[in-house]
Amino acid sequence: MTNNNYKNWKIDQDNDGIVWLHLDKPDSQANVLSQEVLHELKEIIADLEKQTPRGVIFISDKDSGFIAGADIKEFPLIESEEQAREVLNLGHSICNGIENLSCPTVAVIHGFCLGGGMELALACRYRIADTDPKCKMGLPEVKLGIHPGFGGTVRMIRQVGVINGLDAMLTGRNISSRIAKRIGLINYAVPRRHHINAARSLIFKAPKPFKLPFWNKILNHKQVRPWVAKMMTKKVAQKANRSHYPSPYAMIDLWVRCYDDHKTMLQEEINSFVGLIVGKTAQNLIRVFLLSERLKSLGKAGDYKPKHVHVIGGGVMGGDIAAWCAFRGFKVTLQDRQVETLAKVKKRAYGLYKKRLKDRLLITGALDRLIPDIKGDGVKTADIIIEAIFEDAQVKRDLFAEIEPKMKKDAILATNTSSIPLDELNTILKKPERLVGLHFFNPVAMMPLVEIVHSPKTSDDITNKAAAFTRRIDKLPLPVTSTPGFLVNRVLMPYLMEAVELVEENIPLALIDKEALDYGMPMGPIELADTVGLDICLKVAEILSQHMDIAVPERLRKMVEKGNLGKKTGKGFYTFKNGKPVKPAIPKDYHPPTDLQDRMIMRMVNEAVACLRDKVVDDADLGDGGIIFGTGFAPFRGGPFHYVESRGKDQLVKLLDQLEHRHGPRFAADKGWKEL
Ligand code: NAI
Repeated sequence: MTNNNYKNWKIDQDNDGIVWLHLDKPDSQANVLSQEVLHELKEIIADLEKQTPRGVIFISDKDSGFIAGADIKEFPLIESEEQAREVLNLGHSICNGIENLSCPTVAVIHGFCLGGGMELALACRYRIADTDPKCKMGLPEVKLGIHPGFGGTVRMIRQVGVINGLDAMLTGRNISSRIAKRIGLINYAVPRRHHINAARSLIFKAPKPFKLPFWNKILNHKQVRPWVAKMMTKKVAQKANRSHYPSPYAMIDLWVRCYDDHKTMLQEEINSFVGLIVGKTAQNLIRVFLLSERLKSLGKAGDYKPKHVHVIGGGVMGGDIAAWCAFRGFKVTLQDRQVETLAKVKKRAYGLYKKRLKDRLLITGALDRLIPDIKGDGVKTADIIIEAIFEDAQVKRDLFAEIEPKMKKDAILATNTSSIPLDELNTILKKPERLVGLHFFNPVAMMPLVEIVHSPKTSDDITNKAAAFTRRIDKLPLPVTSTPGFLVNRVLMPYLMEAVELVEENIPLALIDKEALDYGMPMGPIELADTVGLDICLKVAEILSQHMDIAVPERLRKMVEKGNLGKKTGKGFYTFKNGKPVKPAIPKDYHPPTDLQDRMIMRMVNEAVACLRDKVVDDADLGDGGIIFGTGFAPFRGGPFHYVESRGKDQLVKLLDQLEHRHGPRFAADKGWKEL
């Protein structure tokens, strides 16, 4: 069988009668299951059903990996349940077809094998995967507000048991080949150079079947399932509110109701999926995914390949930025005035690498790349220099004056300043166009966004290269103008200050946080302020108050004067025990005002509108992306601008008018609403 008339698939039959199905989607860096790929595969499977090859092997010709999942860019085209059902029926008929082939089938996995790609691999009789740490398998659909839809909910649990199976689907986390082998998701983990031989041998000799432990089977029993489900639901509820994120609950429900009859469960998977995908949460989370793709695309400066990063300042930010860059494969020299600071960074970096890399050799490799450089010799050879010293314009300028003559001709000079305009810092430079802001967020390892701050003097070339570098360290670049607070701090600050205002009005702390959580924020503003550090909040608020209509609450100043800085001192608004805030209970007879949530959220939304008017970002989508990835703004709402669109601009302006009437001019609707 050698029909090579397909656009995406190449079919080879070897001398032993084994059919090799090579997937290589043209004009695409990664293989994704687009409609076209699926329709072609359906035809191929129909042909295979009529023949009896010795075996069928699925393999990818892309370096990036096996199959990264469905083509999410096609998701917005799905507008109705009927359309969704059509796509799912196609996926099901393909996976069922593969499963029902009479010959052995093997999926040969390297790089990414996610979502629909994993489901296709699960429909095969056997799977082998690359031992390289870049090989990642998983079912991350939950992150898009949906769940697997090509039979994955059934096959994953059947393959690895309910604990590992549901856990993989509920968290959406990636699974390495080492873990995959341990839980029985794959038959063998072998280096890629042995894949062809390993796949062939699986066709000729069936491996010993993986046996799930007995207790794992018991958990699937009809009478046990409701108990397990109850525990799982409780665990999910700690992370995700059912009304905001229905999909994990739907997965548990599907398993409890239908696991006894796999055929019914497959059908019910379709029914459940179509309900989710047309819902608001999935639509907004898909939007957020596409926004992240847009941000990624801003970092494509093809041939810019820096290798050496020099970081100056090994404090909270500089230390973590250096550790992160070394983690992502860069040679990093780290300069500070104090040797002890550098030793502390190494220790922190070790903690990060141990958690993320696990493998001893990889950890040593990353630590070797992070080089303490007290004298600052790295300045001379670095491709990019990131300054993260004290937030003081004169100190920064002095440093720039000292290092500029030593820098390579084409090296980029970046500052992590969170508040000083670039045009106050570049005055000292011979080449002011080479200064750009790379504004990281704290904690660096967790926060996906980096603001790429440019002033009118920054050259476009440098801005583009800074964005490309940001992609190389696997962060999302957001170009912003060098205006006070840039985007993220500027919208976050009014929200935090309003929360402090509520504290002044004696609203219980825990209630303020709860209102924000109910809206969908990942952490309440009071806990956030304590976590960031009240001294840092005060400093940013003071700087912003010089440029914006923000009153710095007296209470904040007093707490900082007393040394109550939040989590780092054990006391802020809350008292901290073992790193966790102790939240006093909300009195039972307390009747809260009804506009708490609106007060906090609308200050943020109003400021976002002002940012767009000031052209801090180029358009509303970039604003939404930046605010979601920089502040954690309720992702299932699709971003503040999208929230305005879905609730109605006029209605929100009316709400601001009412709030202004009740609470004062800080709620006055920004001029930008008219232009929206
Ligand atoms: P930090 O006070 O923790 O660290 C500053 C470090 O710079 C210290 O280790 C100090 O020894 C070193 N240093 C000072 N002058 C130096 C010099 N001339 N040469 C070499 N090393 C020098 O400060 P942090 O919080 O890390 O802030 C650094 C920068 O990052 C600031 O510009 C700040 O605005 C910005 N930033 C801070 C964030 C935060 O959450 N802390 C978030 C985003 C940006």
